[in-house]
Amino acid sequence: MSCCAREPMAPHNIEVISTAPFDGQKPGTSGLRKPVGVFQQPHYTENFIQAGLIAGLGDRLRGSSLVVGGDGRFFCKEAAQLIIKIAAANGVSKVVIGQNGILSTPACSHIIRKYQLDGGFILTASHNPGGPKGDFGIKYNIENGGPAPESVTNKIFEISKTISDYKIVPNLKVDISTLNTIAFKICGNDFTVEVIDSTTDYVQLMKSIFDFTTLKNYAKTKRLLLNGMNGVTGPYLKKIFVEELGLPADCCLNAEPLPDFGGSHPDPNLTYAKDLVDIMKQGKHDFAAAFDGDGDRNMILGHNAFFVTPCDSLAVLAANLECIPYFKTNGIKGFARSMPTSEAVDKVAQLSGKECYQVPTGWKFFGNLMDAGKINLCGEESFGTGSDHIREKDGIWAALAWLSVLEHTNKSVKDVLVQHWVVYGRNFFTRYDYENVSSESGDKMMELLTKLIEDPKTKGMTFSDPTGKSYKMANLDNFEYKDPIDGSISKNQGIRFMFEDGSRIIYRLSGTGSSGATIRIYVEGYEKYPNPQLYHQDAQEVLKPLVTIALRTSKLKELTGREEPTVIT
Ligand code: G6P
Ligand code: ZN
Repeated sequence: MSCCAREPMAPHNIEVISTAPFDGQKPGTSGLRKPVGVFQQPHYTENFIQAGLIAGLGDRLRGSSLVVGGDGRFFCKEAAQLIIKIAAANGVSKVVIGQNGILSTPACSHIIRKYQLDGGFILTASHNPGGPKGDFGIKYNIENGGPAPESVTNKIFEISKTISDYKIVPNLKVDISTLNTIAFKICGNDFTVEVIDSTTDYVQLMKSIFDFTTLKNYAKTKRLLLNGMNGVTGPYLKKIFVEELGLPADCCLNAEPLPDFGGSHPDPNLTYAKDLVDIMKQGKHDFAAAFDGDGDRNMILGHNAFFVTPCDSLAVLAANLECIPYFKTNGIKGFARSMPTSEAVDKVAQLSGKECYQVPTGWKFFGNLMDAGKINLCGEESFGTGSDHIREKDGIWAALAWLSVLEHTNKSVKDVLVQHWVVYGRNFFTRYDYENVSSESGDKMMELLTKLIEDPKTKGMTFSDPTGKSYKMANLDNFEYKDPIDGSISKNQGIRFMFEDGSRIIYRLSGTGSSGATIRIYVEGYEKYPNPQLYHQDAQEVLKPLVTIALRTSKLKELTGREEPTVIT
């Protein structure tokens, strides 16, 4: 049916297409992520976009302006065109889109804020593999530039369960390969698509935060490597590190965005960025960073592949922020971490008299704290670090922040860490992931652990490993968060075992998988040694007793049949 009945020949008619709900369009930790084939089903993507527009913008939908950008993975361009067509039909007045649909997640967040847009769609499944057999994802971000809060994502899900039609301008075709501003009339309304350069605004932002002159002089004296993992960061890395900071072109590895990320898993950790780890082990470079598919995650390595855990990375940045012009100007307001992230940053907060907030897993939970001016640095164990310059985590920002710290302290990555541990003690941390286990076994494990929480005898109980190392349970719960700004409550955010000596074991089911379940077990032990040499111990060795207790108590092996985790970070 056309709602432009008086313009039967008009080139851009709005059609109202009948549809039926699809199961499972519930956005997870970070948007809706599914195998590409799921999004390719007729009406599937259209339904989700329509639900996102209504839930995200409500009464403000007509006349609103949106950003659209993605990490260049397979199906990004098709999805971008669908968003343009559906946005136009719903009375949106402007869509700002990256050239060829390319914008990193941090860049999208920045563009919403800089141009005061009403929100946007980010087309990515982040660090999940891409290509026709990989994953795709759509995430709605709100006007502060951050991921939609649960009130919006729950609404999207509710609408998706009853949706009966969506509006579309089927023959609206926009060339997004050329920088341009294209104006249309859609049933009498103005609709503009602005195709912008993918990197310009973001590079300007980085130049306003960091001291590029100092970084350029420093970078000249060091050997750096930046690994784009064939995700979206490649063009940004070339602009910033080669053009602006004057490094040789070969400092950027895998810097071409590819629809399937070259067949690899674009997740910057020791398993999936092993090629970078191997190069660093040769000892020829001083610093390396890797970034995920959409550019919001980072991994930091030093000489000889010295690995900085994301938890320690957050703590080190918290302790050194003042060397970055942005923080010198704005002051340091406070810090936040996700619940499973180690308490290393809390130690910095304690010593500096700053507030440190603990939120559930998911960057969206930091947004309110930043908007309220409570924090300006936050991070997660899942390789996310960022600040209030935008409302997403930011991989390249983290690399530039680290370079600023290295320049300022004139130390190697490893020495910065050791010095940090000497002052604050070390929170040894590891995460075990069991990917793609059956949802049933994941649920069973969580039920078993819930029974332990409900049993009053568990508190105060002693848990021992076969070597006799024992830990007394000080407290345990299923983490619940009350947002201090809007009072909203998020329940069931992960099971926490908190032991008397400050050690913790956390169990969660991932909210970013696209099929089955992924069990995450986070293990943390705090040590303050009189002998600094002891800080060099391998986290896996130090945490072995706690890991054994974590696996035994959850009956993980029995319930999943898995002998070993898929990934250890
Ligand atoms: C994404 C989110 C993060 C989250 C991570 C892991 O990167 O942006 O906020 O920590 O996924 O989430 P998961 O639910 O899979 O543990
Ligand atoms: Zn990501």
